[in-house]
Amino acid sequence: MSQTVSMEKIVSFCKRRGFVYQSSEIYGGIRSSYDYGPLGVEMKRNIKDEWWRGVVHMRDDVVGVDAAIIMHPRVWEASGHVGTFNDMLVESRTSGRRYRADHLIEAATGLDAEGMSAEEMTKLIQNDDRIKDPMDGGRNFSEVRPFNLMFETYTGPVKSPENIAYLRPETAQGIFVNFKNVVQTSRVKVPFGIAQIGKSFRNEITPGNFIFRTREFEQMEMEFFVEPGTDEAWHEYWIGERMRWYTELGLDPANLRLYEHPKEKLSHYSKRTVDVEYNFPFAGWSELEGIANRTDYDLKQHAAFSGENLSYFDQATGESYIPYVVEPAGGVDRMALAFLVDAYTEEEVRGEQRTVLKLHPRIAPVKAAVFPLSKKEPVSTIARELYDDLKGDYRIFYDDSGSIGRRYRRQDEAGTPFCVTVDFDTMEDRQVTVRDRDSMEQERIPIEAVRERLANLITA
Ligand code: GAP
Repeated sequence: MSQTVSMEKIVSFCKRRGFVYQSSEIYGGIRSSYDYGPLGVEMKRNIKDEWWRGVVHMRDDVVGVDAAIIMHPRVWEASGHVGTFNDMLVESRTSGRRYRADHLIEAATGLDAEGMSAEEMTKLIQNDDRIKDPMDGGRNFSEVRPFNLMFETYTGPVKSPENIAYLRPETAQGIFVNFKNVVQTSRVKVPFGIAQIGKSFRNEITPGNFIFRTREFEQMEMEFFVEPGTDEAWHEYWIGERMRWYTELGLDPANLRLYEHPKEKLSHYSKRTVDVEYNFPFAGWSELEGIANRTDYDLKQHAAFSGENLSYFDQATGESYIPYVVEPAGGVDRMALAFLVDAYTEEEVRGEQRTVLKLHPRIAPVKAAVFPLSKKEPVSTIARELYDDLKGDYRIFYDDSGSIGRRYRRQDEAGTPFCVTVDFDTMEDRQVTVRDRDSMEQERIPIEAVRERLANLITA
């Protein structure tokens, strides 16, 4: 991993290799919206598949749902998002720009402004000469006011207040409102979890750092329902599990750490929150995932607002209770950025300069490339047959253009762990050359052994 990789380098690399593009680029782009290209979409799918495999399929105590993005507006009143899902906004009258007040204060003074009231922030911003508009150095600021981050829309043709709906700002609530459905229809017993992957939307005042903070992003969240009193132990358990997931998928442990939220800064629903942070070279330690003890807050709120009984009846003890909830909540896009940055390497090996993405094979967008040394028969037919044999199971790339060296370099940049070359000897000895992306070592193995070798590499 290259500690020195800059944001500009990653952004241009992502565009050049088809990982991530600016959204609507032919129209000049739209700020903070990005599209995943052919390699990016494969990588993103792999991250989601790995999460689902680890958090749902490999366990027998977690099931999944896929809830609607547009939910009943009362959901967001019950969850507290209508009232409290705000950032503090301040406008500079000199440049007309709007800023997150806490960011402005922290950048200029080093003071920790999170948790300050709007009035406190206004006083500070208007009186502290160190705080200037980063655009033009101006010192004429509006009052600080709360700004709700939810995107509002209307359902149906009439744009009236009773038709207001919201794009969900988190996937979690789609899980809580289905708690009763899942308990009644899927034979789960506490402790158990419900997982969901999907898009969420927040009208961030200051999105930025490429795909790190955007207004539309994808979350992977799991609500794990437990008996009150066992919540703290389960919280510890999930913190460990989630850290293990990242390191098993190859993120450098030196770039990962846990961050304990101070008590006074916890979200309105949380008893304790611990973040998994990644040390981005351009942004420092930043949150990849939050693991919160949400207590019984959400289920209680939904019970009160909907009038439904959302308690759980424990058949073993004959008691009913509202479960506590431990929630690992991660962002797919942030993880994609962390995996990219962690894997991006510029190195000189045996006198050769190369850029290589040292992604874990499970995360790598393309698992193997098949190269015929020549476009001539029978080399190309044998290579095609091998490609056809492998392609149903994984994303495989077939490339018969350019020198072998160039083809290797292209795959190194794409993070492809395994390149298989069919040459003129293959028709005689039924052997192919397999090249390892990281060591660049080559070995000849029987063509029949390629499939198993690849499977072993990917499941390792
Ligand atoms: N249900 C709890 C929840 O949503 P969060 O910490 O606000 O908690 C969870 O969000 C994760 O979602 C974050 O750790 C981050 O990875 C991702 N996320 C949140 N806001 C984001 C944004 N504007 N852009 C990209 N990812 C975001």
